[in-house]
Amino acid sequence: MRTRTQVGIVGGGPAGLLLSHLLALRGIDSVLIEIRSREYCEARQRAGVLEDGSVALLRDGGLADRLDRQGLVHGGIYLQFEGQRQHIDFRDLTGGRTVTVYAQTEVVKDLIARRLADGGAIEFSVTDTEVADLDTELPVLRYTDAAGTRHEVSCDAIAGCDGFHGICRPAFPSGALTMWERDYPYAWLGILADVPPSTDELIYAHHPAGFALHSLRSTTVSRLYLQVSPDEDIAEWPDDRIWAELARRFELPGWALQQGPILDKSITPMRSFVSAPMRYGRLFLAGDAAHIVPPTGAKGLNLALADVAVLAPALDALLHGDEQAAANYSATCLQRVWRSTHFSWWMTTMLHRTPGADEMEMQLQLSQLRYVIGSRAAATSLAENYTGFPLPKGDG
Ligand code: FAD
Ligand code: PHB
Repeated sequence: MRTRTQVGIVGGGPAGLLLSHLLALRGIDSVLIEIRSREYCEARQRAGVLEDGSVALLRDGGLADRLDRQGLVHGGIYLQFEGQRQHIDFRDLTGGRTVTVYAQTEVVKDLIARRLADGGAIEFSVTDTEVADLDTELPVLRYTDAAGTRHEVSCDAIAGCDGFHGICRPAFPSGALTMWERDYPYAWLGILADVPPSTDELIYAHHPAGFALHSLRSTTVSRLYLQVSPDEDIAEWPDDRIWAELARRFELPGWALQQGPILDKSITPMRSFVSAPMRYGRLFLAGDAAHIVPPTGAKGLNLALADVAVLAPALDALLHGDEQAAANYSATCLQRVWRSTHFSWWMTTMLHRTPGADEMEMQLQLSQLRYVIGSRAAATSLAENYTGFPLPKGDG
């Protein structure tokens, strides 16, 4: 079946879904295709921290009813090392900036509900997705829908929002992309637990046995992570072993980690990856399709949202004959991407134990952690990077 749309969107994660909504607000039609089912997309456990800029973007887009009711505003984080837990006060250090704890699952649920309520075209559970005719002004999106019908959609532009393993980045002609990549020699074992958080704000813990993070999803559900080996077998981690290891890495006199039933358990590899440029002709990449950060800085979701905040007005202008913002899209986004890539790498290497590392790594990390706690300038640098930088003006 042959059809026509203004923007074809590949991928129904946060980037693709928000882009389809921002375009609809500008009166631009799109067709969004997603290989997974709606249920799968809504249940996939991932990020949990939104920068103020991301919250403002969702609010300006009329998407924050539930976020404003259920999101938990945090004014800082704790850094734990050498047996002490130290607070970094974002509000004080940055003139009032905060972050909001609201799970990516909830952002995705809100976006899907809104797109469907507005009559947006989203096709879940598609197969055999392809992008073609990328050297023309009318690229093509092909896919087979859940009922088995093959579609060919001619588009004024295509947005590749299909994550790290998608098809859009590999569709760039060979030689068109430069890529930078770093794999870390560790992974995160993440759990979702049906127990109230044992802390009021996130705890990032440096420990000789490896990093641990105490995050949360709500006042009744906790999210916790342990540094493990990248080839760790999750079957080797029964619940009681996970709780014992978490208790060890967060240990503090007079404080106890509350335990509860584990609802979800998974292992995530750690990688930094940037590909540039984020555009080839009328194919634009956004979010994890173009770049990946290790989760230690809580940046991945925020970067995906920031990309499409820049892309929506650029596509709007392009469709009205003004090429300038589309020409600037990649460079505009990459400024933020590289800042977040550096911050995430810095947080990661400061807090994780490299397998086989000598004692010098530990001493350098502890020196840096003491400096962050002891120097207002160093703490401010962490706080402003963590809470995020404003989106470029006029990109809403
Ligand atoms: P995605 O969310 O990956 O969405 C891409 C979508 O495209 C997916 O729904 C996928 O099914 C779909 N797709 C793929 N291929 C195709 C195709 N060929 N055709 C159609 N659809 C396709 N960030 C944090 O800040 N904190 C965290 O704790 C954290 N944990 C993470 C854990 C994991 C396992 C992963 C993979 C990422 C994690 N991230 C985390 C990063 C954060 O979740 C991502 O940066 C964010 O999801 C990026 O959004 P996106 O829309 O660009 O990509
Ligand atoms: C999460 O809540 O999943 C989370 C929070 C902060 C991070 C990474 C993940 O740095």
